Amino acid sequence: MSAGALETRSVLLVIAGGIAAYKSLELIRRLKDRGARVRCVLTRAGAEFVTPLSVAALSGEKVHQELLSLTDESEMGHIRLARDCDLVVVAPATADLLARMAQGRADDLATAVLLATDKPILLAPAMNAQMWSHPATQRNVQTVTGDGAHLVGPAAGDLACGEVGVGRMAEPDEILARIETMLARPARLLEGKMALVTSGPTREAIDPVRYLGNFSSGKQGHAIAAALAERGARVVLVTGPTAEPDPAGVTVQRIETGQQMLDACRAALPVDIAVFAAAVADWRPVAPAAAKLKKDGQPSAIALAVTENPDILATLARPGTTRPQLVVGFAAETEADPARLIERARAKRASKNCDWVVANDVSPGTGVLGGRRNTVHVVTAGGAESWPTLDKNDVAARLADRIAAALQADGRAIA
Ligand code: C5P
Repeated sequence: MSAGALETRSVLLVIAGGIAAYKSLELIRRLKDRGARVRCVLTRAGAEFVTPLSVAALSGEKVHQELLSLTDESEMGHIRLARDCDLVVVAPATADLLARMAQGRADDLATAVLLATDKPILLAPAMNAQMWSHPATQRNVQTVTGDGAHLVGPAAGDLACGEVGVGRMAEPDEILARIETMLARPARLLEGKMALVTSGPTREAIDPVRYLGNFSSGKQGHAIAAALAERGARVVLVTGPTAEPDPAGVTVQRIETGQQMLDACRAALPVDIAVFAAAVADWRPVAPAAAKLKKDGQPSAIALAVTENPDILATLARPGTTRPQLVVGFAAETEADPARLIERARAKRASKNCDWVVANDVSPGTGVLGGRRNTVHVVTAGGAESWPTLDKNDVAARLADRIAAALQADGRAIA
C-alpha cells in the first residue's frame, strides 16, 4: 500500500507501559503519513515511557488517559471511543494488559475500551522472553486470540532488559503492514472462481489409540482459504485435525487420513485454483492393528511396516481435464540456506507438475510449524521471489493477491 492508502480509516492505538512504547510514536507517524486518523489511549504505565504531549503532537488529537474523566465522558464516552474507529491496536501489549484483557477487566480506560469495542483488535506483545513464554502469559494469549484478537509478533532478538529471546515488539513497519492488511478491503477479483485448499496434518492410525502425524497447525492453509474467500472465490477447505476455527464463508471438509483428504479433494473438483498447504503424512501403517498394541511380550524395539500415502498434489496436478488452472504446492524443508531451499522447490515444482511452489524453512528454531509467522520464497516459471517474514495472514493475503493477478493477467498461461 502507498501513501494515502489508509485515507478515511481510523485507528485507536492503546499504548501500554513497556519500553517498546517509543516505537509506537513512530507507528503513529507512519499511520498519519498514510492518511489514517489515529486516536490514542495511554495507560498510566504507558505515560511513564512516552509523554502525553509527544503522543498528542504526533497524532494531532487529544490523548485519552482516564476512564472516569468528566470532560472526556461528556465529550466522548469510552464506549464511543471504542467504537468510533475501524481497528483497535495495542502496542506495546504488555503481559499485564494481556492478563487483564483475558480476564475481561474494565478497571482502566484501556481495558474498558478493549472490552467495549466491536472492532477488530490487533495486539503487538512486548515483554521479557521469560514473561512471554510463561504458561500464564501463553494461556492469556490463547484466551484473547480465542476471543478474536489478532497478534503481530513478538519477534526474537535483543530485549531491552539485556536478555535475548522472543519478546521484542514487532517493528513499526511490520505492525503497519498488518494494519494495512486488516483494514484493506481486497477487491473481489476472484468472483466466480472455485478454489480448493488443503490444510493441517493428517493422522494415520497405528492402532485404535495411536497414529502417525506431524506438528502442522493448519494456520497457513486456513489463512489462505480465508484470503481467497475474501477475494470472492468459492472455497472448499479440506483439513486434517486442527484447532483452527473454520474460516468465514468457506466450505470446510474435515478428514483424518491422507486417503480421505485425496477423496475429499477429488469430490471438490473441478476448481480453478488449488493450493496444497497440508502436511500430508508421507507414509501410513500397512495394517493398523484392530486392538491396542501392548508392550507385554514385545521386544524393546519393534518395526512398524509403512506404505507410501498417495501424493494428493502430484495426483491432482497431472495433466487432464480436471487439472486446476493454477496449482500451488508447498515445500516445507528443514533447510536454512535460501538458495538450496529454492533449488529444492524448483525440483518439486517440476516433479509434481505444479505451477507455483511456496517454499519455507520449517526447522525447529524457526518457529514456523505451529507459529504465527512464516518466511517464504515463491517459485514460479518466471523465477523465485523471497518475501519478508510476515504473519501467516499476511502471507495468505499476498498469495491470494498474486493468484488473482495471475488469473487476471492471463487465463491460460500462469507465470
Ligand atoms: O513432497 P513434499 O511432502 O515435500 O511436498 C509438499 C507438497 O506436496 C505440499 O504442497 C503438500 O501439501 C503436498 N503433498 C500432498 N500429498 C502428499 C504429500 C505432499 O498433497 N502425500
